[in-house]
Amino acid sequence: MTATKALAAIASPIADDVRQGLSAEPKRLPAKLFYDAEGSRLFDEITRTPEYYPTRTERGILQTNAAEIVRQAGDNLDLVELGAGNASKTSILVEALSQRQLRVEFHPIDVSATALQEAVASMHGRFRNLSIRPIVADYSDDLPELQSLQGQKLVMFIGSTIGNFEPDEAVQFLQRLRRSLNPGDALLLGMDLIKDADVLHAAYNDAAGVTAKFNKNMLVRINRELGGHFDPEAFQHIAFWNPAMSRIEMHLESRFEQKVWVRDLDRVFHFAGGERIHTENSYKFSTETTSRLVHASGFRMERCWTDPEQWFRVVLARG
Ligand code: AVJ
Repeated sequence: MTATKALAAIASPIADDVRQGLSAEPKRLPAKLFYDAEGSRLFDEITRTPEYYPTRTERGILQTNAAEIVRQAGDNLDLVELGAGNASKTSILVEALSQRQLRVEFHPIDVSATALQEAVASMHGRFRNLSIRPIVADYSDDLPELQSLQGQKLVMFIGSTIGNFEPDEAVQFLQRLRRSLNPGDALLLGMDLIKDADVLHAAYNDAAGVTAKFNKNMLVRINRELGGHFDPEAFQHIAFWNPAMSRIEMHLESRFEQKVWVRDLDRVFHFAGGERIHTENSYKFSTETTSRLVHASGFRMERCWTDPEQWFRVVLARG
């Protein structure tokens, strides 16, 4: 291996995922690769399309029930958020806590320092009794930082991010989270519910094409970070509801047979016409499967809230 290649291999944290995923049969890329700066911006744009109901539905649930949620969660809580979420939702709980408590400590946890900076900036100066202590960490790896926090905690894991995990991984993740909490700490978990297939389909196939751009951005990212030669327009955005697996699947489908060189991987990847790269699963839950997930992870379900159409569910669980 030449010195430059060794450097490139060290420099890009996505190299292993891309090499493995594009060498697999069928091809896949992990959904976490969506979220470079441009991908995070595009996701934010998705949440503002008329078709993408989850964000506004969950925000409505939080708005309607914020006082009850924080009362049920307990007294003098420190707020922890896994993923530097969406300020328009997070600040609803921060506000409810800041009205009940003299001081509120908020710890957003995210791998991306930039995402954390934005979260801090959007909250800064809005609440007199709030102090924000961001933690840079990959919450899907280990959570030792959580145990070192002193007070009783309310941990938010909202936005149905749990739906990106495979079902067994979701249980393992929540089990690990529970072990890193102290007895009595609370978990607020947001989960998207199964609904009319047309509504689900539209949410991942918005008319303005933002989700398609978000999906293809993965190829743009590989081009930039690994010297890839993908033409994003040579792939088609595919998203469909898979009822047997209870999930939305997203794929990128090669419009024709092609070979794509990725310089820093020293590899050429072959695509047959119509061949797909599986980029995301977004699992949807029934009321039964939300409860089963919570219990299988060792949490007790204390309360849950939904919207009038029962499109989304927010659960308060105790470790
Ligand atoms: C952020 C994982 C909840 O699955 O709906 C949005 C990501 N993908 N449109 C979801 C996403 C396509 C989103 N999550």
